[in-house]
Amino acid sequence: MRLDLVDVIDVSAGSYEAGEWIVQPGEFPRGVLAPHAARYRRFGPLVAVAGRISTGDAAEAVLAGGAADLVSIGRALHADPDWARIVLDGGAPRPCIACNQGCIDVVHTQQPIWCVVNPGTSRESELAPPTTARRRVLVIGAGPAGLEAGLRAAARGHRVTVLEAAAAVGGQFRLAAGLPSRPEFGRLMAWYLRELARAGVDVRLSTRADPAVVADVAPDAVIVAAGGVDALPAVPGIDLPRVAGVRDWLARNDPGPAGTSVTVWGADRAGLAVADAIAATGVRVLLLGAQQELAPEAGRREKILVVPRLTTNPAVRILLGTTLEAIEPNRLLVGRDGARQWIDESGPVLVSQGTVPAPVVLGSGSWQRFTVGDAGFGASADAAIAQGAAAAQAIR
Ligand SMILES: Cc1cc2nc3c(=O)[nH]c(=O)nc-3n(C[C@H](O)[C@H](O)[C@H](O)COP(=O)(O)OP(=O)(O)OC[C@H]3O[C@@H](n4cnc5c(N)ncnc54)[C@H](O)[C@@H]3O)c2cc1C
Ligand SMILES: Cc1cc2nc3c(=O)[nH]c(=O)nc-3n(C[C@H](O)[C@H](O)[C@H](O)COP(=O)(O)O)c2cc1C
Ligand code: SF4
Repeated sequence: MRLDLVDVIDVSAGSYEAGEWIVQPGEFPRGVLAPHAARYRRFGPLVAVAGRISTGDAAEAVLAGGAADLVSIGRALHADPDWARIVLDGGAPRPCIACNQGCIDVVHTQQPIWCVVNPGTSRESELAPPTTARRRVLVIGAGPAGLEAGLRAAARGHRVTVLEAAAAVGGQFRLAAGLPSRPEFGRLMAWYLRELARAGVDVRLSTRADPAVVADVAPDAVIVAAGGVDALPAVPGIDLPRVAGVRDWLARNDPGPAGTSVTVWGADRAGLAVADAIAATGVRVLLLGAQQELAPEAGRREKILVVPRLTTNPAVRILLGTTLEAIEPNRLLVGRDGARQWIDESGPVLVSQGTVPAPVVLGSGSWQRFTVGDAGFGASADAAIAQGAAAAQAIR
């Protein structure tokens, strides 16, 4: 090869059969390709490298370590187009969480790609400008929907109070962030907290909204972002002590049923993440889902690691197209292809059948009211964040 004709060798990786190496999920370390790039230094031309270089520190480590002369930033710029300026100023850009949901999993649909963490991406022209009609805005719940709603409302010039019943922000997203498949999710909550403080938003933790608190704030607009709680379908045995919703179970921070087996009922995104986390501890898992595929709501690149991990693990038994009809203390009645059968399973049964809106009592008032995220019809962090932003934009 005529290397004297080459100015830059740009190192990225993967193939369509190994897509996890092209657009790496969050489980891959930041700057994962740097050691590979370093091997091209000896040829002479400048070397550039891509791949999970999503923070200023990661970029600096690649450059200072001498692995490459240039860093290529992909998704981090999609999550925050001001990434380079903010990093050079020593600030914290809106973080890419390497979920792959809104970018690489959408690009093949011929629709505009979007970004889970940034509802402005691809919709830049729709962002409402700051307002002169400064309202008092009350946001109820500090999950992804409420965090984005509060920040966006403050950015438009409103006075914002966010009430959060729990002692920490994040809602279900915080539970997801504790799972091994989602190591970057926590960065988003930390970023929101910092930005809300910078914007002067009054975030009140351990404060449940009730009519007295709402009246005290005397809002002009209320954004209900109280999220959802586990839906527990009314099958016989659902009240047995061995049954819990996945969110409840995660919130209890249960160390897990060592030495036993666990049934996860529901092969949706949350069910898969929980089954995966349990299987990683060496516990046997039965994953039951009425779905015909694992987490059909998730795209291929989002679940590119978890699906093969579950399907190739001999300790994980997966029954799709299968309904759970009854739960007894030591066995489960399942339905499949029109037939019913008892399965001997006596361990915990964790239910992942979506959510129902959390109950919220506000009292009455003449405020403008919005309901966003899982408190309404959302069922994902991207919907929650997009709806939170839209509500903040619509405050009159
Ligand atoms: C295990 C798991 C994995 C997931 N993985 C993904 C994923 O990969 N991608 C994705 O898009 N989505 C994922 N989700 C779903 C996503 O986390 C939720 O859809 C999203 O968090 C909903 O956001 P929200 O703000 O509407 O509600 P929530 O996250 O439920 O937050 C609502 C908040 O409101 C608070 N609250 C409730 N009532 C009151 C009250 N009266 N006063 C004050 N505060 C109140 C709650 O304490 C909570 O903090 C996952 C969920 C789980 C459980
Ligand atoms: C939406 C999207 C489209 C991409 N398209 C291409 C492409 O056409 N060719 C290519 O070599 N890499 C493509 N990539 C991979 C990126 O160039 C980059 O190598 C990869 O995303 C890892 O870098 P990052 O962690 O900074 O995003 C794409 C990535 C994304 C997210
Ligand atoms: S959709 Fe997810 S992976 Fe893609 S840029 Fe946004 S945060 Fe990053």
